[in-house]
Amino acid sequence: MRTIIITGASGGLAQEMVKLLPNDQLILLGRNKEKLAQLYGNHPNVEWFEIDITDDSALETLVVDLYLRYGKIDVLINNAGYGIFEDFYQISDKEIHQMFEVNTFALMNLSRRLVARMKESRKGHIINIVSMAGLIATSKSSLYSATKFAAIGFSNALRLELMPYGVYVTTVNPGPIRTGFFDQADPDGSYLKSVDRFLLEPDAVARKIVKIIGKNKRELNLPILLTLAHKFYILFPKLADKLAGGIFNYK
Ligand SMILES: NC(=O)c1ccc[n+]([C@@H]2O[C@H](COP(=O)([O-])OP(=O)(O)OC[C@H]3O[C@@H](n4cnc5c(N)ncnc54)[C@H](OP(=O)(O)O)[C@@H]3O)[C@@H](O)[C@H]2O)c1
Repeated sequence: MRTIIITGASGGLAQEMVKLLPNDQLILLGRNKEKLAQLYGNHPNVEWFEIDITDDSALETLVVDLYLRYGKIDVLINNAGYGIFEDFYQISDKEIHQMFEVNTFALMNLSRRLVARMKESRKGHIINIVSMAGLIATSKSSLYSATKFAAIGFSNALRLELMPYGVYVTTVNPGPIRTGFFDQADPDGSYLKSVDRFLLEPDAVARKIVKIIGKNKRELNLPILLTLAHKFYILFPKLADKLAGGIFNYK
């Protein structure tokens, strides 16, 4: 039985991933234990923890305890994250730090806590749920994109460090997914409305993620339209900026 940690466990995408992993030992991390209990109380092989993932010493204590009890962690899915779609001048210093704490530093710290042991056992998989916003920057996503570009840069370097040890690092970069993410990112719903036809369903994204667990896959980008847009963005950055700032500016 694989032992899998998932952060941001009460989120929309995490809920769908959990449904698809009935035969694994799941360790679910979230901010609210009542919510976790309500969602996962009847699920077999699940243990959940209320934890502030931005508290590195709490992560350390938890990881030590988990290794004592389970002996191994096979997979870490760094899934917790949020966005705020806002003009950059309206974003406070506190918000900048907080979003980096959750989307980037917690992901790095939890990975850091596991990699030494994964290296030693020459086995393990870190799956970082990042975003298309970490590959393509668009207006009103400056802060969110910065946290996600950083997470991709980190993951790409870590993958190379861990390659000789048989430990895999994958980035998952979805476009917009129909989850509660937009309650905070886009409270008036205008962005959501304009991208409705491109929206990914969380169960479909979860199926793709679950399929690559344990596989040496560099990145999972979706949907195909945005994957192609990303290739275009790299090849023709000036033109891509013109389009992203013009007809394709949905924010
Ligand atoms: N939805 C999209 O359009 C989309 C697109 C691309 C990438 N993503 C990424 O996919 C991941 C999952 O998002 P989702 O779509 O499932 O959204 P979601 O339903 O809002 O779930 C995200 C989860 O992250 C955790 N989280 C959010 N803010 C946090 C904070 N301040 N401190 C600690 N934890 C926090 C929460 O988990 P707990 O409540 O359990 O603590 C939350 O339920 C995120 O990393 C997101 O950036 C989403």
